Order: sequence, then C-alpha cells, then structure tokens
Amino acid sequence: MTSSPRNSYEDSDCILKPVNDFALFAGFSCGDADLDDFFNNEAKPHDDQLLAKIYSFHLKGEKSVSDAVAFCSMSNDSVKLSNRKKSRTFPEGKRYKSYPTVKIGRLGTRSEYQGKSIGSRLLWAIKVLFITDNRTGCRFVTVDAYNNLRAISFYMKNDFIFLTDEDKSDQSRSMYCDLLRFKNSLADTG
Ligand SMILES: CC(C)(COP(=O)(O)OP(=O)(O)OC[C@H]1O[C@@H](n2cnc3c(N)ncnc32)[C@H](O)[C@@H]1OP(=O)(O)O)[C@@H](O)C(=O)NCCC(=O)NCCS
Repeated sequence: MTSSPRNSYEDSDCILKPVNDFALFAGFSCGDADLDDFFNNEAKPHDDQLLAKIYSFHLKGEKSVSDAVAFCSMSNDSVKLSNRKKSRTFPEGKRYKSYPTVKIGRLGTRSEYQGKSIGSRLLWAIKVLFITDNRTGCRFVTVDAYNNLRAISFYMKNDFIFLTDEDKSDQSRSMYCDLLRFKNSLADTG
C-alpha cells in the first residue's frame, strides 16, 4: 500500500509526501489565518530545526498529479492516559506512564477543496504511514484540535476520541486515535 520512499504514502488516488520545496505554499489558504501563517512562514523554520516534518497531500489523475490540496505537520510526541483509558486499551498490562505517538501539529485543506473528503484521506494516509515500517514504536496519533464543530466532527469522523473532559471549554481539545485498532480493522477487512 505504501511506496518507496518510506516516509511517503501513495495509492491509486493520492500521494502524501514530505515537502522539500517550500515555494509550494505560495497562495495556500485553508481559511484559518493562524494556520495559513504557519504554512506560509513558519513551516520551513520548523522543518529546518527538526521540530516538525511538513507533508503535502496530492490527488492523482490518470496521467497527472495535482498541486498540493492539503498540508500537515507532524512531530514525535507521547501521551499519558488515565487509568480508566489504560485498562480499556491495555487489558493485559503494558501499563506505562506514557505511550509513544505522532502528533499532528497543523493540518489544513485548501479552502476550495474542503468538504470533499481530502482531510479524511490525508488522515488515513498518516495512519497507514505510521503502522508501516516504523523506526520506533508509535501507538497513537494525537492532535490538539480546534474546539469548534467543524474540526471536532472532522477528527471524530476519523476515529479520534477525546483524551480528557478537562479541556471541554478550552480553545483546543486533546484527541487521539489508536493505531493498533486501525491496524486490526485493516486486517479484519482483508
Ligand atoms: C477541518 C478540515 C481540515 C477538514 O478537511 P476537509 O478536507 O474539509 O475534511 P473532509 O471533507 O474529509 O470532512 C470530513 C468530516 O469533517 C466534518 N466537517 C468538514 N467540514 C465541515 C464543516 N464545514 N462543518 C461541519 N463539519 C465539517 C464532517 O464531519 C465531515 O464529514 P461529512 O463530509 O461526512 O459531513 C478543513 O475544513 C480545514 O482545513 N479547516 C480549516 C483549518 C482547520 O480547522 N484545521 C484543523 C485544525 S485542528
């Protein structure tokens, strides 16, 4: 399902790959000023300083590949689970203080492409990437989602759940997705 190089995902419809040419961002807007500013001005310095890896998402046609229709940034992270969540997720032990994750720092779909499942396909590609040929263990995908209906429904629709109720009234909510559940669901569907 994934292709070489190891940190890219490609299938018959789309490609997710690391950004090398930051000129790609010229004119990019997902309609959120902070995210637009990040991708236009902060993405390269973050990448240069090894704080985040920036990825672009492209659609494949019969003979061509589209310009980037979405972007995301990702970094190594870890998550602490409540005892209740630990015992549900790890019924047979494996009780650590924290668990390895990949964190989605920023994610935006180009405004004119929103609502066409691009963001969901990008999340799918991230999940596949992080259950395939990893250098290190990575059990969850995490995100601090904007606390608005659109972003929360988007992540819930893609199998992310809330880490806690304590951030209910904050500007962002910590959410996570279990990559082992995702991996098992792929095995179940063949
Ligand atoms: C949030 C965002 C990334 C979603 O990307 P997208 O490509 O539009 O997402 P999808 O088309 O895959 O949408 C999947 C689900 O998200 C939710 N969603 C998407 N747009 C929505 C909207 N305008 N209002 C409510 N829910 C919405 C819906 O549940 C949708 O499922 P449905 O199509 O079955 O109704 C995109 O809207 C965006 O870039 N927004 C601005 C930046 C942002 O908020 N980023 C997230 C930061 S945490």
